[in-house]
Amino acid sequence: MRVIERIEDLRAACDIERAAGRSIGLVPTMGYFHSGHRSLMRNAREGTDFVVVTLFVNPMQFGPDEDLDAYPRDIAGDLAAATEERADVLFMPSVSEMYPLGPQKTTVGVSSLTEGLCGRARPHHFDGVTTVVTKLFNIVGPSAAYFGRKDFQQLAVLRWMVRDLDLPVEVIGCPLIRENDGLAMSSRNAYLSSEERAAAPALFASLVEATEVMRDGERDSAVVEKLVSDAIGKNSLLDIEYVEVCDALTLQRLDEIDGEVVIALAAGAGRARLIDNVVLRVDGLLVEADLGMRIGLDPSE
Ligand code: PAF
Repeated sequence: MRVIERIEDLRAACDIERAAGRSIGLVPTMGYFHSGHRSLMRNAREGTDFVVVTLFVNPMQFGPDEDLDAYPRDIAGDLAAATEERADVLFMPSVSEMYPLGPQKTTVGVSSLTEGLCGRARPHHFDGVTTVVTKLFNIVGPSAAYFGRKDFQQLAVLRWMVRDLDLPVEVIGCPLIRENDGLAMSSRNAYLSSEERAAAPALFASLVEATEVMRDGERDSAVVEKLVSDAIGKNSLLDIEYVEVCDALTLQRLDEIDGEVVIALAAGAGRARLIDNVVLRVDGLLVEADLGMRIGLDPSE
């Protein structure tokens, strides 16, 4: 694996691969790799010829009171993990390499989908994400880019951006990876105290409960949202920010559950802000749920 820090070196390496007819898979990350990141890298390895993993803690997507400085980092661990997952390149630019003129005057923004859910508490976050991802697309020229379904809103926003701007890249959503007790994997789980860590699987449990009542026929979003909120609210260490049933494509809140929907939630747990979701396909009485995959367990369990 080659470690690259300069944009022009990455561009040159990718130009050579494309000229040789090899497809490029891009895995954008902010590092502190866990099994979720590794699964993105594996998907890219299976789906494309040349895998570029990027590690950049992007200041543009953090608000002034957010955890930019505290964001967990482990460069040695990340180098080892990306090597094990057979990435071809690990791109680790500095902030001045990505933003040489300071804050960008040109940004990429997606309206509507970014305004609800996490966008309410993090008003500029998604502009930071879509801008940096567009820059990475322009530098790398990937045929496919891999993102986890845990960040469901981010995935929906990036898909919309690619369609709106006719970007020649396929956005591939990869499974949400969970710990064995159901907690969605996230670099920010490192912030949890042992008590908060013990409480956090309640988020997943509430989504399982919501899926069950929907399988029993419940189609009223308000009822499902209340059930999830009440289940989480029983735990004093979890502070609910939102629970919402939305259309999976537009992220607009639904009154009545039908078609492809997402139940998305965010909750505070001490210093950590946790998000989770379940995606459901509802067709009459049929409910198909994608609750993600737990590490170490058979996907069918
Ligand atoms: O999901 C993340 O880690 C980040 O939002 C991303 C996509 C790497 C952009 O900085």
